[in-house]
Amino acid sequence: MLDFKEIIAEKISNLINVDIEEIKGYIEIPPDKNMGDYAFPCFRLAKTLKKAPPAIAEELKENISIDENLISHFEVQGGYLNFFVNPKVLVKNVLQEIDKLKENYGSTETDRNKNSVKSIIVEYSSPNIAKPFHIGHLRNTIIGNCLYKVYKFLGYNVTGINHLGDYGTQFGKLIEGYKRWGDEYNISEDPINELMKIYIRINECCEENEEVLEACRENFKKLEDGDDYCVELWNWFKEESLKEFNRIYDLLGVKFDSLNGESFYTDKMAEIEEILDKKKVTKISQGAKIVDLEDKGLGVCMIRKSNGSTIYATRDLAAIKYRADTYNFDKCLYVVAYEQALHFKQIFEVAKFLGIPEKCVNGLEHVQYGMTRLATGKMSTREGTAIKVQDLLEEAISRTMKIIEEKNPDMNEKEENAKKIGIGAVVFNNLSNTIIKDQVFDWNNVLSFQGDTGPYIQYVYVRTKGILENLDFVPNFEEIDVNCLLDSSAIDVVATLYKFGDVLKSVTDKNEPSLLARFLLELAQKYTIFYNEDKVLVDDEKVKNARAYLTYCVQLIIKIGCNLLGMEMPSKM
Ligand code: ARG
Repeated sequence: MLDFKEIIAEKISNLINVDIEEIKGYIEIPPDKNMGDYAFPCFRLAKTLKKAPPAIAEELKENISIDENLISHFEVQGGYLNFFVNPKVLVKNVLQEIDKLKENYGSTETDRNKNSVKSIIVEYSSPNIAKPFHIGHLRNTIIGNCLYKVYKFLGYNVTGINHLGDYGTQFGKLIEGYKRWGDEYNISEDPINELMKIYIRINECCEENEEVLEACRENFKKLEDGDDYCVELWNWFKEESLKEFNRIYDLLGVKFDSLNGESFYTDKMAEIEEILDKKKVTKISQGAKIVDLEDKGLGVCMIRKSNGSTIYATRDLAAIKYRADTYNFDKCLYVVAYEQALHFKQIFEVAKFLGIPEKCVNGLEHVQYGMTRLATGKMSTREGTAIKVQDLLEEAISRTMKIIEEKNPDMNEKEENAKKIGIGAVVFNNLSNTIIKDQVFDWNNVLSFQGDTGPYIQYVYVRTKGILENLDFVPNFEEIDVNCLLDSSAIDVVATLYKFGDVLKSVTDKNEPSLLARFLLELAQKYTIFYNEDKVLVDDEKVKNARAYLTYCVQLIIKIGCNLLGMEMPSKM
């Protein structure tokens, strides 16, 4: 596809002898269409060229020559040189590209080939065994799933890992609690909640009685040493938990390539300690083994507790080494809440001593996201005010079902559509704003068919499908006349479609799924304006075909984009 930015940058770069990539970085997309499709801010060069920005702009304008079939004109406004893309070329080019690539539009063959050599790990979800899967893990799962899909779509070699929290002292506690009161609880009926109760009860005991805590620690040590009874119990907790997690993953349509969680690294931690000892970066402090990172302002990273047990950080270091050895990754993304920022800074710093390739060390990245609060108040597992994620997802579906029953009781495939809309709404809600921001979960916003919501986009999609069904056929690209799509609302739609590939690329550059969510909203909004201004089903065959073709393109790109977010498309709404 034509890259207008590149074309403009090349011309400017030739004239003033500044690197094309640098120029590309300066080129802006103006907020107002009267200022062109692209703008070059000349003040960026004022220092180097020792001239006032308007003078540079004038000079560039005098000397630049661009094929007017590509850029129809350009003009100086203050310190900017503004470029106006030839709309006909834009429309033809974009529609032709969509015709050629269809389901792959947005990821070009050359990029796919280039990316296929890069190995990307996306670690996401990572709930803790025997504890509830809470709303934070839901957000995590949705963000990670989207990143996983976008990287894959762009041709990268992606591995999705669920780093299960299936190890640590809490299992020593759980085993102790189970030993004492296991018979009192109906674990197979409602495993996670019952285990949680045991966990809370044993914690209270531990607080009161140091001996109980000691017994718990002893249990974990036994577990690490492979004691039959402890291992058997732990396996059972894990199995029951996974059953419950899988119900959530099924509802969301989420899959992983690996479930290697914390316990997977049990036998891989001694090596880490050895390497760090050899590098002479460890020391003993109050009986514990640490790496001192004070000089970096990062406190100390503990490797082994004074009682000899390993900790969370040690397992993470072993995971880094294992992943570097196994996947030779270029990027390893950790989708984890921002509360753990210090932990990741520490382990990424210590990872420099592990003797893994430099590209792996540089590819470690913590993708942070904000907390979710309920509109009704705060959540706490202990107080029982936390909502269960499975209940939340099921409620999204049942609330949607109620809306359908009210508005469209005769709809076909009601249940399936309610599921796609309800789940889609929750997914979109989690991705519609910059992920680092905290968010408030409010049913009224989430399920609204208007505003910045998933259902709104699905609604526009269903409308495009309806139009095409009414028409009974999708015209071929060769048959349509692009001159029929040169009014401003049609061009706006096309200009949005044009950006799709760039948007996906920036999703991976910034690890920011909300860029895709915002793009889809923009596309839905632009199409709605187009649809209201330029009716599609008109008498003039030529016009009708062209507008129908554009409708087909919008339908296709909304579907691709929503699927990448992790949403499915309903057949009716
Ligand atoms: N299981 C942890 C939690 O729920 C998150 C794990 C994050 N990943 C990691 N490699 N440390 O808080």
